[in-house]
Amino acid sequence: MKNKLIAASILSANFACLGKEINDVLEAGVDKIHFDVMDNHYVPNLTVGPLVLKSLRKNNIKCEIDIHLMTKKIDNLIINFAKLGANSIIIHPESSKHLDRSISLIKNYGCKAGLALNPSTSLNYLDYLIHKLDLILVMSVNPGFEGQKFLNYIYKKIIQIRKIINKKKKKILLEVDGGINIDNITNIAVSGADVFIIGSTLFKSKLSYSKIIKDIRLKLSKIY
Ligand code: DX5
Ligand code: ZN
Repeated sequence: MKNKLIAASILSANFACLGKEINDVLEAGVDKIHFDVMDNHYVPNLTVGPLVLKSLRKNNIKCEIDIHLMTKKIDNLIINFAKLGANSIIIHPESSKHLDRSISLIKNYGCKAGLALNPSTSLNYLDYLIHKLDLILVMSVNPGFEGQKFLNYIYKKIIQIRKIINKKKKKILLEVDGGINIDNITNIAVSGADVFIIGSTLFKSKLSYSKIIKDIRLKLSKIY
């Protein structure tokens, strides 16, 4: 398995031809697809739900898909997305009254469980939950929109979480979401990220998807 993974956030893709966009970025070399679900309550934006995942799976999109739930209610969506073939489901602590129960629900349906931490969310949530998590997603922008600027104070948070993960025997992926570009990806990687979730830098570039991914891989390869 590769050490550093690239996830393409479809929030920035052309939804008129979503299936093709996904196949194109996979062919360009991304490792997985990041599927942002927003309900206009938890965040001030409205995106896609289970129906879209259902269409993708029906149309032969077999790749790994991570569901990032940015919704006020999550438990029914966890079940729906899991049944439709989600690989990982990532939730925010603010969305659940009983976080342990929601994380267990994800696991019981056979998906990997992730916890997403907004820029201002405390790491304390990890204290009693980390043993159940397969991944931790650090938001490096406030959730809701693509194309925002990476918040520089998040480097410290990435470094702190890396240290916490390293103390555990279990493999837990550290994902970073928001504002990643070709100029800051090296610093983010050096801080300890395993997975780079990339939206506008990939889908809104004038360069081809394969050129962007090649440039990113080159940057990541120079870290060791
Ligand atoms: C923001 C989403 C991100 C976003 C990333 O709420 O969770 O996945 O789409 O897009 P960029 O890379 O443009 O910040
Ligand atoms: Zn996301």
